[in-house]
Amino acid sequence: MCGIVGYVGEKRAAPLLLDGLRRLEYRGYDSAGLAMITPTEGGGYELNVIRRVGFVAELVKAVPENLAGRAGVGHTRWATHGAVTEANAHPHVDSTGRIAVIHNGIIENFASLRAHLEEEEGVKFRSETDSEVLAHLVRKFYTGDPLEAVRSALAVVTGTWGVAVVFADHADLIIASRNGSPLVVGKGDGETFLASDPHALANYTRSIVYLEDREIVKITREGWEISRLDGRPVSHAIEELGIELGSSEKGSFPHFMLKEIHEQPESLSRCLLGRVVPETGGAKLGGFDLTPREIVAIRRLGILGCGTSFHAGLVGATAMEQLARLPAFAEIASEFRYRNPVISADDLFLAVSQSGETADTLGAIQEAQTKGGRVMGVVNVVGSTIARTCGRGVYVHSGPEIAVASTKAFTSQVAALLVASLMFGRSRMLGPGEGRAFGADLLAVPGRMASWLDANATSHTGPIVDAVELLVNARFVFFLGRGVSAAVAMEGALKLKEVAYIPCMSYPAAEMKHGPIALIDKQTPVVAIVPDDQMRDKTLSNVQEVRARGARVILIHTEGDTEAAQLAEVAIAVPRASALITPLLSVLPLQLFAYRAGLALGRDIDRPRNLAKSVTVE
Ligand code: F6R
Repeated sequence: MCGIVGYVGEKRAAPLLLDGLRRLEYRGYDSAGLAMITPTEGGGYELNVIRRVGFVAELVKAVPENLAGRAGVGHTRWATHGAVTEANAHPHVDSTGRIAVIHNGIIENFASLRAHLEEEEGVKFRSETDSEVLAHLVRKFYTGDPLEAVRSALAVVTGTWGVAVVFADHADLIIASRNGSPLVVGKGDGETFLASDPHALANYTRSIVYLEDREIVKITREGWEISRLDGRPVSHAIEELGIELGSSEKGSFPHFMLKEIHEQPESLSRCLLGRVVPETGGAKLGGFDLTPREIVAIRRLGILGCGTSFHAGLVGATAMEQLARLPAFAEIASEFRYRNPVISADDLFLAVSQSGETADTLGAIQEAQTKGGRVMGVVNVVGSTIARTCGRGVYVHSGPEIAVASTKAFTSQVAALLVASLMFGRSRMLGPGEGRAFGADLLAVPGRMASWLDANATSHTGPIVDAVELLVNARFVFFLGRGVSAAVAMEGALKLKEVAYIPCMSYPAAEMKHGPIALIDKQTPVVAIVPDDQMRDKTLSNVQEVRARGARVILIHTEGDTEAAQLAEVAIAVPRASALITPLLSVLPLQLFAYRAGLALGRDIDRPRNLAKSVTVE
């Protein structure tokens, strides 16, 4: 979603800001801009604001190569209020053109503030955005002290913000504040950086401080001063930005998505490393910091997340029930947070998030915590808001996931939840022999994944190619599965929608006959996920039902299951694994379907339209 970068220092700021914006591109956006504080011939300073619709590359073309200025801010906008136009792109300037503001989040009372500014102050608005009110409010309160002007402006605002403001009157200064939308400041040598995502700073500094909600910071080249919006001073210890595991470069791959699909054996190994303990048949997740006695005392487990992370949670909840006999459910975070859930002290919640910044998930965590529930994170991005809000939890160690459509994070999330289920299981119901067998099966997955990807991912002929041909020509596609494979079906359908924009739907296989089967005609491709587990025969009966109505069946089955394969127009074999582990393998062809269908249809694979990598608004 929207991204913020800022720089104050000795160097020319524009190239650094543009580089930072490029590193934020993966988050999804539709326009970009920057505001530089540039010297004038008369010895003063002015603001130079440049904005463009489209990619950062368009902005790069528009920024003069030798644009002067050693301080400035840059922004990528993902439209919420107002269309994707240059006028709505950030930065927004006040009516004097000497104050510029970039903003992530939503100003909820912008309509009344705007009316007030128009009627009482005679302000002429130039955009349809909520954010522009901030520029005019800061101007209204500005009497020469930038920090106090921003503080006063934010005092009349309700909503969420990560905001940064520059003033032409103060050539070496950025004022920034956070409330519900992340910001981090980074220390260099005679220079200071600001970003909404530490990823943007990784090339320049590793000494960082995360701002907390309702804090405001005065940034100069010497460093920063942080205080609360109510004026109380704050001091945060500088943290070391963790070395990113895995690379955020595309290397020889044409797209990040394909690279990330291929990285899964490696990212999965990292996630499992040292966590499965063959000697005891159990598992160790130090971040959970739970004794066996505490695990036994848990009465119910809730897994919260959105999108792909929710799908991983569905697999995790089933695994928890089966391995640990612990009542468990997964729920979409945005629904959970507003249904006034009943929570008791012996409930445990796991919040699953790749980015660690998803506003809906964060809201659900806060709701659970408010009601006295314990919440632990299952997060990829180290130091992210969700990781810090939960305090305890585990990192999934996928490494940077740059493509908007999640692939390697999903498999690592599933693996982390399976490890947690094994750990909880050994303290509850699971014997050492069963635990050891499950652990061994889990540890074998990276190797099996690697062989499968080697054999299938790049081949120009074979069942993946045949399946994609059916999918790209379809008006509508159905995904079916049962148990954990129903979650895989949901994930496959989500990927195909996101990346290829093909309308599709996933359904638990048996439930389909209660209505959606009416959608099936002679042309409908049906992707059925049918591993050789206890539900196989039942799901194959559902496959027969759609075949009888002329559906074109693409079937994902376990290697060697020729009987299942015979029912399909296109059959794709994946390696054998125990039932709960099958999602890690059966999702691979579905990821490739989305990638290849998107490619065939000329889609923007890594940055699908309308999507954002990190969804920081509700
Ligand atoms: C799908 C996808 C989204 C995210 C969802 C949650 O490919 O990427 O559905 O899974 O927005 O994001 P995180 O995991 O960052 O909380």
